[in-house]
Amino acid sequence: MKGIILAGGRATRLRPLTWVISKQLLPVYDKPMIYYPIETLIKAGIKDILIIISPENSGLFLNLLGTGEQFGCHFSYVIQKEPRGLAEAFILAEDFLDKDDVTMILGDNIFDHDFSKEIQSFKGGGQIYLKKLDNVEDVKRLGVVELDENNKVISIEEKPEKPKSMYVSVGLYTYDHHVVEIAKNLKPSARGELEISGNPSINNTYLDNKDLKACVFDAYWQDAGTFESLLEAGNHMSGKASIKL
Ligand code: TTP
Repeated sequence: MKGIILAGGRATRLRPLTWVISKQLLPVYDKPMIYYPIETLIKAGIKDILIIISPENSGLFLNLLGTGEQFGCHFSYVIQKEPRGLAEAFILAEDFLDKDDVTMILGDNIFDHDFSKEIQSFKGGGQIYLKKLDNVEDVKRLGVVELDENNKVISIEEKPEKPKSMYVSVGLYTYDHHVVEIAKNLKPSARGELEISGNPSINNTYLDNKDLKACVFDAYWQDAGTFESLLEAGNHMSGKASIKL
């Protein structure tokens, strides 16, 4: 199993913080944001990691993270020239993946959970990770997943007016090597991006092929892409023991 951290993007919602620095290098309590997704992958036993970055910030990431040796990992880098969507990661990663399975994590997603059981038991197809939220207004802003009584995915809807469940898909995904071909054949969505959720998307393709599994977890998760959620993530992480390198 290889890993990808998606750390490009424009981070428009965090301007002016992000005019000259990447979102994923901003502090979350006592370390740069990207340390958290690195730790999530390491905890799950993934050490061969591709980091996708934007051209403006590439030098900063290399200076901070280097070869990955200090984390006991091997880091590779690829530059995404324009943020054309999350699913472009798999096209950019084709050579790196070389037909291996892959877990991708978004560079601004902060977890306090060990996913090794779910990731190590992956058996092909696609696998998404769901958290049950309490507030329907939060759910309406996210990718909502409807499940049957055996936790099989029935539908995925991006930002629905009337959510069919309270389960949302978080920024962690595991796929077999078919994901590269699926990404290459994907048409851009209405907003012009290659999507992982939404329509058309990687997850909906796996779902149409009846090859999408959902793992529900109940632990801390935050998407640190807004001022409020960045602050909340920092407060949550304060006082938690973790590696600092
Ligand atoms: P988003 O938060 O959806 O986008 P963004 O980071 O550009 O922020 P904003 O909406 O405020 O403009 O992205 C989620 C994660 O994926 C984040 O770590 C950035 C990354 N990303 C890429 O690396 N490439 C892309 O093409 C996109 C859309 C996002």
